[in-house]
Amino acid sequence: MRMASSETTDGTAAQAEDYIRRSLAHLWIPTQQPNELAEDDALLVIESGEGVMLRDSKGRQYIDALSGLWVVNAGHGRSELAEVARDQMARLGFANAYAYASPPAIDLASKLAAITPSNLTRAFFVSGGSEAVETALRLAKQYHYNRGDQKRFKVISRIGSYHGTTMGAMSVNNASYLNRTPFEPLMPGSIAVPNINCDRCPYEKTFPECDVFCARTIADVIRFHKPETIAAIIAEPISTAHGSWVPDAQYWRTLRALCDEYGIVLIADEVITGFGRTGTWFGMEHFDTPGAGPGTHVQADIMTIAKGLSSGYQPIAAALASEKIAQAFIGEAEDTFIGGVTFGAHPVACAVALANIAIIERENLVENSARMGEHIAGRLQELAAAHPSVSATRGVGLMQVVELQRNPESGEDFRPEDAIGKRMTQALREEGILSRGGASIQIAPPLVINREEADNLVDGVDRAIRRVELELNLG
Ligand SMILES: Cc1ncc(COP(=O)(O)O)c(C=O)c1O
Repeated sequence: MRMASSETTDGTAAQAEDYIRRSLAHLWIPTQQPNELAEDDALLVIESGEGVMLRDSKGRQYIDALSGLWVVNAGHGRSELAEVARDQMARLGFANAYAYASPPAIDLASKLAAITPSNLTRAFFVSGGSEAVETALRLAKQYHYNRGDQKRFKVISRIGSYHGTTMGAMSVNNASYLNRTPFEPLMPGSIAVPNINCDRCPYEKTFPECDVFCARTIADVIRFHKPETIAAIIAEPISTAHGSWVPDAQYWRTLRALCDEYGIVLIADEVITGFGRTGTWFGMEHFDTPGAGPGTHVQADIMTIAKGLSSGYQPIAAALASEKIAQAFIGEAEDTFIGGVTFGAHPVACAVALANIAIIERENLVENSARMGEHIAGRLQELAAAHPSVSATRGVGLMQVVELQRNPESGEDFRPEDAIGKRMTQALREEGILSRGGASIQIAPPLVINREEADNLVDGVDRAIRRVELELNLG
């Protein structure tokens, strides 16, 4: 079934053209050059959405295979959330969060304390994921500072991981597609270590014999830099930017043990993995602590959340801190946390996020993510067997990925002239699928997806890969 039907009639067509003309002149789209889309009608103007579907200004329909950007967990078109926003705006549209609390902020902070890992008790609200990471780094640094451990300013992050684009977040941001050079020097003391990758192990080892060497060897980095200078380790529980590897629990247990041994703050960046994306409420729930009782998972000291927190209906994010962290900010006046943004704990955003969490609970969307994720994963395995260019499929819940190479047998990657990113994104679009295409195709639809929609999604991806294989004469 093909979703993107092209029709452009009279007024709609004229308006669509006008949107594109003015967008190219005035709207600067991140990661694109200001004139990049001029020649080839590549710019989509998204006008509306319903469930897993999106509609553009030319009336074409698409399956939103990326939930916007791993954001719209509750699906598009939730007028219930519009009503919550309207009611809250009518009651209180803004409060100075530096000085006051508001009922929605209190309710949301309490709810988060109830549904996140049990050690996390405090919510510091900001407007987006980068700010949440920024806040987590500041919390970690000042936590040590307040306790008299004032040499700890270094932060360990992992090559390939993504944590945002503000300067602090960018400093711990090592996604391979980012060019950090124009912004250097970045935050002093940012130390990048190799990531986990059991397909192409940076240390050429094999799991389980390696005994998670990639985590254990971080101890050498800590000792080299002197433990008393290291403030934090930051990592995504499962990194989409680095291939959606689901590490063995021992990986995270090892990070936790290193942090305990050397007094380092452990930050779990759950900006993508939170709120059901991986089939559990939070990504860290995939990593059990043996001997600590059933359902007890590795606990981070700080967790960052954004995206699915409000399903994107309002811009809101948070750094959640454990009581251990919070206690270091109680004391003299100068112990107060230095951070915050004007739009932090925004009452409308908090009210909408709370209602969004209620939808996720009421409609069992976390369970649906696990169920549909398993179904899609099975279908992707079949698809892999039928395509000469598919080298791997992996993921958990509704965070799946299909990886392609020119020749998986010889390990040959795509060539620059293949323009695989642009080519695959376009092929997907022509099959009615919106996602980020390339050598990795991300499959992360809203958690409301049903079986028929999931099958349509995989069928569309299947046809798009076939198109690209034919164009590039693969297999
Ligand atoms: C893991 C992770 N952390 C942080 C961020 C930054 O979030 P934002 O784009 O809302 O600033 C992202 C964004 O994709 C992310 O994936």
